[in-house]
Amino acid sequence: MDNFQYINDQLHCQRVAVRDIVEKTGTPTYIYSQATLLSHFDRIASAFAPLKALICYSIKSCGNLAILQALRLRGSGFDVVSGGELFRALQAGADPGMIVFAGVGKTDQEINEALDARIGWFNIESEEEFWNLDRLAGAKKLVVHGALRVNPDVSSAGTHQKTLTGKKETKFGVDIDRAEVFYIQAAAAKNARLSALHLHIGSPIKSTQPYVDAITKALNLIDRLAARNIMIDTLDIGGGFAAFYEGNEAPSAADYAAAIIPLLKDRKLRIILEPGRSISCNAGILVTRVQYTKQGGAKKFIIVDAAMNDLIRPTLYESYHFIWPVDVSGSCPPENRYSTLRTANDEKVDVVGPVCESGDYLAKDRYLPRAKRGDLLAVFSAGAYGFAMSSQYNARPRAAEVLVDGNAWRIIRRRETYQDLIAAEI
Ligand SMILES: Cc1ncc(COP(=O)(O)O)c(C=O)c1O
Repeated sequence: MDNFQYINDQLHCQRVAVRDIVEKTGTPTYIYSQATLLSHFDRIASAFAPLKALICYSIKSCGNLAILQALRLRGSGFDVVSGGELFRALQAGADPGMIVFAGVGKTDQEINEALDARIGWFNIESEEEFWNLDRLAGAKKLVVHGALRVNPDVSSAGTHQKTLTGKKETKFGVDIDRAEVFYIQAAAAKNARLSALHLHIGSPIKSTQPYVDAITKALNLIDRLAARNIMIDTLDIGGGFAAFYEGNEAPSAADYAAAIIPLLKDRKLRIILEPGRSISCNAGILVTRVQYTKQGGAKKFIIVDAAMNDLIRPTLYESYHFIWPVDVSGSCPPENRYSTLRTANDEKVDVVGPVCESGDYLAKDRYLPRAKRGDLLAVFSAGAYGFAMSSQYNARPRAAEVLVDGNAWRIIRRRETYQDLIAAEI
């Protein structure tokens, strides 16, 4: 699952003691394991190798340039959703032909930037967007590939409402009932070829069946289009593979592949995947220091120096992140990462940050070894949508990011300063 383990009572990332890193960087700090990152990429790549699938890592989950470079060198393409993410991908040396550009509200400027970069596919989310792309590509005398994001209207149990995208009533894509007409009308376009179909049904999708349902519907549509002489050559099945927060809840890459490959293996389709979380989530932890502990009525609070501005997932999605001390010489290493884990010397606490919001918490009603001022805590499975969703709320400089490779480590984003907080202000 990951390369964070306890050696001689100290949490290590690969062969580096976490305490040694944060003694130099301070806290809060995101620490990523390159081995974990690449092993999760490799698992998906090899599971889907029978389809010769193009893996386009979803930058939004964790977009540091060093992370993107490591994945690019491993053969990854990229899924981007903004001009800024396109800029990041290109800065990391991405092959533009291996970039897909999704997003419901691409501006003319963003589309022009992507046209100039000669990206592989524009994922199209509405009729208006398609004709606008055709117009802008025409102005540059280019012919480009579009993938219509089709909303297959499938259900997925266990996916949070805020990250469920495969149902009809979401802002994403085009309803599957309307898609056939869309493709027929789009055939008249001169500069945008709608030769691909894109799905992204939500995140995380904790079982394989929603993919089977969505792909089956997409293939039916592709067959109906073929009968009308409209040929689809590429199917992008999006992202959404689950990651391991408790260690037992996600299908493996091989499980997803076992369900999906039989549907596609006899088809002459180029297959694209856009995994984010399943590659970056388990590769990262957030390390924070206990500032104070206190009682509030019946509750015990552990107040740490990381907050909702550093990791907003608990407050935004009620997400679970396993938390445990970095130094377990006074307690014990965790046996597992389940939300129900209890130890002999534990107490029930809320782990909260210093931001002025009651919603600012990292864990609620959690059993943790007794913690005291100065202790370091590790928040696990924080690599995806962790730093990427961080902000400067409460004028808090963003955390540092560190990448560990074997027994070496380096800062891949320095901690922001107060000057950074005001740098863009006039
Ligand atoms: C279009 C698209 N592709 C891929 C992803 C990545 O999802 P995940 O990180 O769950 O793999 C997302 C996430 O929101 C998305 O919107």
